[in-house]
Amino acid sequence: MEATITTDTTQVIDLHRPDDFHLHLREGALLQAVLPATVKHFARALVMPNLMTPIKTVKDAIAYRNQIQQLLPSDCDFQPLMTLYLTEETDPQLIKQAVSSGVIQAVKLYPKGATTNSSSGVRDIKHVRSVLDEMEAQQLPLCVHGEIVAPEIDVFDRESAFIDQVLLRIRKWNPGLRIVLEHITTQEAVDVVRDQFPFVAATITVHHLILNRSHIFDDGLHPHRFCFPVAKREKHRLKILQAATGGERCFFLGTDSAPHLEKHKLQPCGCAGIYSAPMALPCLAQIFEDHDLLGNLEMFTSEWGAEFYRLPKNPQRCRLIKSAQPVPLPSGPSIGNDRVEVFDPGFPIYWRVD
Ligand code: DOR
Ligand code: ZN
Repeated sequence: MEATITTDTTQVIDLHRPDDFHLHLREGALLQAVLPATVKHFARALVMPNLMTPIKTVKDAIAYRNQIQQLLPSDCDFQPLMTLYLTEETDPQLIKQAVSSGVIQAVKLYPKGATTNSSSGVRDIKHVRSVLDEMEAQQLPLCVHGEIVAPEIDVFDRESAFIDQVLLRIRKWNPGLRIVLEHITTQEAVDVVRDQFPFVAATITVHHLILNRSHIFDDGLHPHRFCFPVAKREKHRLKILQAATGGERCFFLGTDSAPHLEKHKLQPCGCAGIYSAPMALPCLAQIFEDHDLLGNLEMFTSEWGAEFYRLPKNPQRCRLIKSAQPVPLPSGPSIGNDRVEVFDPGFPIYWRVD
């Protein structure tokens, strides 16, 4: 372990700068508003392609990356890692182009209708087989939103149904394809990842380490605790927690920080997504400390994701400092008359990023 942990009165954790391997940055004013929080804490982030007009081509991804980079201060070396949105029309030729561009790190599978801006997603996995074949040949990882959306499948069973009906099928078709099962929420996901690693790994969000499904309805309905996949029973949260904190190479951080304006969250039919970026590392330090596993934090935030994506560890460092008093929750960014609410873990956090 290279992390320095001082355990006297002022506690300090010194880590390789973390990576966020699942992030929604959006575009325009919202991008401008949320980018600084990620840049302050992370060296790299895998940027999701589910914009209103999805990122489907290498040209789209380069233009989006330029949009992000233009907003970075000149002395900032934050690296956006780009993804492409898989559709049933994706041409397998795109995969070669994506790899030779050097800009694309992964292709993202959204089952149609599973979440925000997924209407162009995949209805039937058989229809993208030739793309998966090419990805396997070119060694380009597939990121999956692992939920099946069908009227006969209960919303809490969407992830386990996906594992049985889609993930294990892809594993049979393309045994050499590296797959990231994103934002896992169930014991079934933890088990399948342990079983199928090193070809399958998983990202885990901060909010899924904290929330169970009862928290969404705690004393009333909490729209800011609503996301997809929806949080599950406490027994599942405990499995996810054990997976994240245990130092296993198959589990790493992807915050799925997903900002939405309040006017879109606080609706009769509000949208799914939790904006966690500003609190992600402070919450993680608190959680790992509370479980006496601070020594495993750096593996989860800064090592195993890079290893899976075959990227070098970030040479830059990041320092977390523990205060004597709880750190106040930052207020989210304002955009015109609206704002984005920051995830509130619901318990005191003593850590902050220096
Ligand atoms: O809750 C979610 N929000 N889950 C996702 O998978 C996507 C995200 C978004 O883009 O808002
Ligand atoms: Zn996401």
